[in-house]
Amino acid sequence: MTMTAAASTDIREAFPPSLLACLKAPGKPDSHGLEPIEGGLRDNFTGNVYPFLDSVPSLMPGSIGERDAKTGVVRDFYEANPFPSYEGLEEFGELVAKGSSNPFSAQLLEAIGYNKLILECGCGTGQLSHFLQLNNNHVLGVDMTLASLRLAVEHKQRNGLRRSAFCQMNIFDLAIRDGTFDVVISHGVLHHTPDARTAFASIVRKAKPGGIVMVGLYNRYARIPTWIRAHLIGIFGARIDPVVRERIADPRKAAIWIADQYRNPLETWHSLDEVLEWFEENDVEYLNASPAILGTSGETAKGLFERTDPGNRYQRLVTQLGWLGSIAREGALFDVIGRRRG
Ligand SMILES: C[S@@+](CC[C@H](N)C(=O)[O-])C[C@H]1O[C@@H](n2cnc3c(N)ncnc32)[C@H](O)[C@@H]1O
Repeated sequence: MTMTAAASTDIREAFPPSLLACLKAPGKPDSHGLEPIEGGLRDNFTGNVYPFLDSVPSLMPGSIGERDAKTGVVRDFYEANPFPSYEGLEEFGELVAKGSSNPFSAQLLEAIGYNKLILECGCGTGQLSHFLQLNNNHVLGVDMTLASLRLAVEHKQRNGLRRSAFCQMNIFDLAIRDGTFDVVISHGVLHHTPDARTAFASIVRKAKPGGIVMVGLYNRYARIPTWIRAHLIGIFGARIDPVVRERIADPRKAAIWIADQYRNPLETWHSLDEVLEWFEENDVEYLNASPAILGTSGETAKGLFERTDPGNRYQRLVTQLGWLGSIAREGALFDVIGRRRG
């Protein structure tokens, strides 16, 4: 098969060359780069073709459910409940306004700066990926759920966005060359995998030496109120969830949030100390946490990627118990940021 002019235009629209250069054939060494052909990407070594499914390059061959039953169940769940909902954010301007007024995403964009290559693992419908392509950044969003990726590509095409691109992949078998991204993010994802520790090791390898790694997880302590609400929501209804009560007016958006929070087939809970262990195992230096660890320099840090001290076990425990009164209201996600040594 030869590449046609139309195919090369399609792929350039779907993929900036800087992101295409980071891809490789799934399950193969980094030397197996991919080149665009009509309707897919071809392994330049073996000639194997990986097709586009509904305009989404699929680099996840085979049935995930057959290879890994738990991951298959999670994917089925997100195919039925693509997260997060685009309700009210169909125009890019609306999405930028929301991202800029959200302290976390605004600080993240500021810390990342300009002209960076960013990988978002488990991008869902791609809202954060789209937002981070501001500042001339190029962002690759990968996820295993096609229904979510379709919405990400739809938003990209509707708004003519050129610096974000999307691909179907499994985090445990990333079709990405090692050491290629300035920033690797996985926010609200690894706790929906059967083995978050192994998933973390898989994503870290994709950061350049000296690159940033940021992981957002459900907290072991702050998630307890959600667990209690999950047992009561059948009786009292969706309004016992503070986010639905205070922030989500649209019923479809609320239904997706409730499904994600309370009916998820697989979730695990994690602590700051556990993530610090993952960092050591993978040669990642701790930089900061969000929310900050109490009594540490993180509380006065000027930027999300500033190097701060992680405190001691007691400070971290008090911090996480304190989160019962703060992030517990909105899903109990905490983020830890580090720098890959090298
Ligand atoms: C709660 S959503 C988070 C989406 C987005 N990061 C956000 O914060 O809005 C979790 C996402 O992780 C994805 N995911 C879970 N396990 C995965 C895996 N093994 N490989 C790729 N994606 C995965 C799901 O498909 C889903 O889109």
